[in-house]
Amino acid sequence: MSGGVYGGDEVGALVFDVGHYSFRGGYAGEDSPKTEIPTMVGVLNELLESNAMDIDGQQTSQKKYFIDTTSIHSPRKAMEMTTFLKDGMIEDWDLFEKLMDYVYKKHLKSDSMLHPVLFSEAPWNIRTKREKLTELMFEKYGIPAFFLVKNAVLAAFANGKSTGIVLDSGASQTSAVPVHDGYVIQQAIVKSPLAGDFITMQCKNYFDEKNVEIVPYYAVGAKEVVKEGEAAKWTRRSTIPTEGLTKTWNNYMVKEALQDFQAVVLQVSDSPYEKETADNMPTIHYEFPNGYNQDFSSERFLIPESLFDTSNIKGVNTSVMGMSQIVTTSVGMCDIDMRPSLYGSVITTGGNTLIQGFTDRLSRDLTTKTPPGFTDRLSRDLTTKTPPSMRLKVLSTNSTAERRYGAWIGGSILASLGTFQQMWISKQEYEEGGKAQVDRKCP
Ligand SMILES: Nc1ncnc2c1ncn2[C@@H]1O[C@H](COP(=O)(O)OP(=O)(O)OP(=O)(O)O)[C@@H](O)[C@H]1O
Ligand SMILES: [Mg+2]
Repeated sequence: MSGGVYGGDEVGALVFDVGHYSFRGGYAGEDSPKTEIPTMVGVLNELLESNAMDIDGQQTSQKKYFIDTTSIHSPRKAMEMTTFLKDGMIEDWDLFEKLMDYVYKKHLKSDSMLHPVLFSEAPWNIRTKREKLTELMFEKYGIPAFFLVKNAVLAAFANGKSTGIVLDSGASQTSAVPVHDGYVIQQAIVKSPLAGDFITMQCKNYFDEKNVEIVPYYAVGAKEVVKEGEAAKWTRRSTIPTEGLTKTWNNYMVKEALQDFQAVVLQVSDSPYEKETADNMPTIHYEFPNGYNQDFSSERFLIPESLFDTSNIKGVNTSVMGMSQIVTTSVGMCDIDMRPSLYGSVITTGGNTLIQGFTDRLSRDLTTKTPPGFTDRLSRDLTTKTPPSMRLKVLSTNSTAERRYGAWIGGSILASLGTFQQMWISKQEYEEGGKAQVDRKCP
C-alpha cells in the first residue's frame, strides 16, 4: 500500500507552521490557523526539596515551562525566555515537545493519533532534523500519516502559484527562495538578517538615543497625562516583584511594546527616503504604556528605510542585503531561462512585509533602479541580460492574515486536495521504511 487516503472529510489533517515569532496550527481546509501561540517559552529552574540530590551530591533542579500568551505575560521571578528554534530550524527538541504537547492538549483538544500532520519547514532544513521530526511525530504522537513541505513552497501555493520567487520577511530574517514547479532551487536561496526583529532593534536604538525608556505594560501602575514629547510620569505597579525578574523576560516585554509601535507607526517610503519629503507627510500620534507620547513624522519612514537602503545602517555588517537586492541576487543565481517566470511572480509573505508601503517600494526598486550596493557580478549580468519581454509582478495578498499566515494557508490548501492524499507518508510506510521515508517522499 502506498500512502492511503487520509485527511478526507471524516478525519481532518492538521497543519503546523513554525516561525521565530509564533507557532501556527489548525485544520486543513480552513481559512486560517485555529491557534497561534508565541514561539518563545518561559523556563523556570526550580530547586527540588533538599533531599533530592543527584549522585554527585549536587542539588537537582526541575524545569517548569510557561507556554502561551497569558502564561508568559505574568511576571515570575527567575523565569527566563527561550526558544527551541535556531535559523528557522528546531534545535531544542525537548522544548519543542513541550510546546507540541501543549498545543494538542490545550488548543486542539484532540487525540494526536487521529490526525495526519503536515508540517512546514525552513527551505534550508537539514536531513537529520527532517528525519528527527518524522520520527517524533510517528513515535511520540502516534500520528497516522505525515508530510513535510518547505514553507516557501506553501506560501507560493497560497498565492495560487507553483513557480515564483518567494520573499519571506518574518521576525528573524528575510529570505528569497525561488520555487519552480513546486520545488525549491536550493543553490539560489538568499538570506538577510534584515527583518522584523531588526526593525524592532532599530526602534529601540532610536528611543535610546532620545533617552526615552520603553516601559512595558506589566510594569505600569498609574500614569499621568503628559504633553507630547515630555518625559512620562508613571508609577510602578505595586503587585509585581521589584527584583528577580529576568532580563530575557523584560526584554521580551519591551520587544512586544515596540512591535506594536512598529506595526502602527512605521511606513516604508515609496521612493528612497528624503527628509524634506518625509517631513511633509502626515504625522502619527502614538502613546506608550507609561503615557509617553509623541507625534512621529520623518522617523516613521527613516527607521524602515534600512530594509531597502542598507548604506546607513549602524553596527551591522555592511554586506547585508536589502529587500530588492535579495530578490535580484537570488534570481541572478537561477538558470537564465527561468528568470522571466520568477520575476513574473515575486511573492511576498511574512509579518514584516505588512509594514505599510513595503510591497509598493519593493516593486518600485525592482523596476526602476539598481538598488544601492548592487555590485554583485551575477546581478549585474542579470540587469544587462534581462530579456525585453521580462515583466515584473509583485504579488501580495491584500488581507493581512493571508500575508502573515501564507505558509500555513498553503499547507491548509495542499493537505485538503484530493490529489494530495496519495502523497502522505503513512504509518505503515514509516514502520516498513523508517524515518528515511521523509527523504524519499518529501522533496
Ligand atoms: N502589521 C504589521 N506591521 C509591521 N510588522 C508586523 C506586522 N505584523 C507583524 N509584524 C512583524 O512581523 C514579524 C513576525 O512575522 P512572521 O509571523 O512572518 O514571523 P515568523 O514566521 O514567526 O518568524 P521567522 O520567519 O523569522 O521564523 C514580527 O517582527 C512582527 O513584529
Ligand atoms: Mg516565517
